[in-house]
Amino acid sequence: MEDFIAFGKPHFGEAEIAAVTRVLESGWVGMGPETETFERELAAYLTSPEVVAVSSCTAALLLSLRVLGIGPGDEVICPSLTWCSTANAALYLGAIPVFADVRPDTLCLDPEDVARAVTPRTRAVVVVHFGGLAADVGALSALLPSRCVLVEDAAHALGARYPQGGLVGSSGNLCCFSFYANKTLSTGEGGAIALPDGADAARLRSLRQHGLESDAWQRYSTRRGRISDLSELGYKANYTDLQAAIGRVQLTRQQEFAARRLAVAEYYATALDGLGLAFQHGCTEPRHARHLFAVRLPEDSRRSRDDIVRDMREAGIGVSVHYPPLHPMPLYSGSPPRRLPVTDAVAPRLMTLPIGPLVGLGEAERVVAALRRVVGG
Ligand SMILES: Cc1ncc(COP(=O)(O)O)c(C=O)c1O
Repeated sequence: MEDFIAFGKPHFGEAEIAAVTRVLESGWVGMGPETETFERELAAYLTSPEVVAVSSCTAALLLSLRVLGIGPGDEVICPSLTWCSTANAALYLGAIPVFADVRPDTLCLDPEDVARAVTPRTRAVVVVHFGGLAADVGALSALLPSRCVLVEDAAHALGARYPQGGLVGSSGNLCCFSFYANKTLSTGEGGAIALPDGADAARLRSLRQHGLESDAWQRYSTRRGRISDLSELGYKANYTDLQAAIGRVQLTRQQEFAARRLAVAEYYATALDGLGLAFQHGCTEPRHARHLFAVRLPEDSRRSRDDIVRDMREAGIGVSVHYPPLHPMPLYSGSPPRRLPVTDAVAPRLMTLPIGPLVGLGEAERVVAALRRVVGG
């Protein structure tokens, strides 16, 4: 449908097209100098000592847990209200995702429930900055035993700030970003890990390339063709210079994109007043990255969330569901059963409204008018 308002469409302009053309014409389209520059520029933006670009946030999470030594039988606490990648990173390594509840206001992990979920086998917590609202990583770290590490799933949170200040990615934890099509910085696909430690960064660079000591660009540019012996099993999870060229331009546009998201969020928060919808805590505060604009129906809503989402889509508005909780899904039947009363109560009433670089106030007005009609029934 021509005038369908998608939930999160990227914007690529002349500058992104010129950057891709430049890389195409260079003759080197795999991972190489453009990726190195993107890593340096992203590290400077985040004020993180190191950034390692990889093929996706899913790969970033997997490689992070791997580098931190998570393995078979280890328990990894994470939310159930998230995309499957968060929990699957543990499963890939033979570890066990243990689901903890979220807070109803922030939709991020509830530190008190995380504390209840800790057992002698807990080795890591993966915290999701839901929708772009940074969780309080200080509070979470403070309650974890010293053998546990904290990994940040910041797929939604490039540009977000912690409650205490500082950009997400500058905390000193391994912090995983996504550059998937609809994210606040888009390169179609892609991801990155921000981290403090140079030795861990070097190992991540090896793990993203099968476990090799050097990548193809290093062998080509130094004319040393020899491939090193493999000593550990890595992955094919590298980034590419075509993506990096887009990413470098998108990085310079972060302020422009953030301003657009903020204007639309402020409009939604005002224009939807009176419908009984609850908004995520901080949704109009500058520190929220607003990858998602989540609204929650009241408990006594006359219409179900699924009916509303269907009717909105039929009206040409890409309202979405983030997320069906993971804990009831068959894939996670090996996880210990836990009560998640907030997730269970909140998830069936949660939906996300269109927001992104191509959603302006005109589109937002159409979203609000349709929602008033549809929620009213
Ligand atoms: C919370 C969360 N974590 C991880 C991912 C995985 O990102 P990617 O598609 O880059 O692998 C997503 C994707 O949307 C996500 O929403």
